[in-house]
Amino acid sequence: MTHELHPDLARVLISEEAIRERVRSLAAQLMEDYAGVERLYVVGVLKGAFIFLADLVRELSRPVYGLPHTVDFMAVSSYGKKTVSTGEVRLVLDLREPIVDTHVLLVEDIIDTGHTLRYLLQTLGGRSPASLRSCVLVQKEGGHSDIKVDYLGFTIPDVWVVGYGLDYADRYRTLPYIAELRRQVYAS
Ligand code: PRP
Repeated sequence: MTHELHPDLARVLISEEAIRERVRSLAAQLMEDYAGVERLYVVGVLKGAFIFLADLVRELSRPVYGLPHTVDFMAVSSYGKKTVSTGEVRLVLDLREPIVDTHVLLVEDIIDTGHTLRYLLQTLGGRSPASLRSCVLVQKEGGHSDIKVDYLGFTIPDVWVVGYGLDYADRYRTLPYIAELRRQVYAS
């Protein structure tokens, strides 16, 4: 069955099936890399990462001997209702537990300017975790080579994307795929 695309959307960039497959392979990679680790502290960055994180951790739990993990969240904001990052990252919600000697995996939906991930890696890195890695679903093409992304789902063109956690002014966030938003929607 084909669904008509919302008129605000230019095209589907990453289909639901492609996301599902990639999330599975990322989870398989994580299970291999963290084999033997007692517990992985999976940190989702709200709001955008909540859907990606939910799918990823369920894949980690699928095998009988999955990867033991705890889920926690942080919230930061640098965009508000704007389409351009202010560059100033604000911590809105912190972790519930200290992460000293803990293996931490930071889960993000997107890297655009890189301000958010850079800030989070710096903040959490200062809390003496046993290890700190990042898992990002999509990264925009070009730049940010200074940022440490350990697990990356997809590289996308430099357009405004929505769906699968990504929003524009809090809209389109729960679309099951990732789509390009028409320029006239956010330029107006
Ligand atoms: C979005 C996204 C990332 C960040 C990436 O968050 O979820 O956290 O921007 O952009 P950057 O690489 O330019 O820093 P946003 O501030 O829009 O909040 P939200 O997740 O609640 O939508």
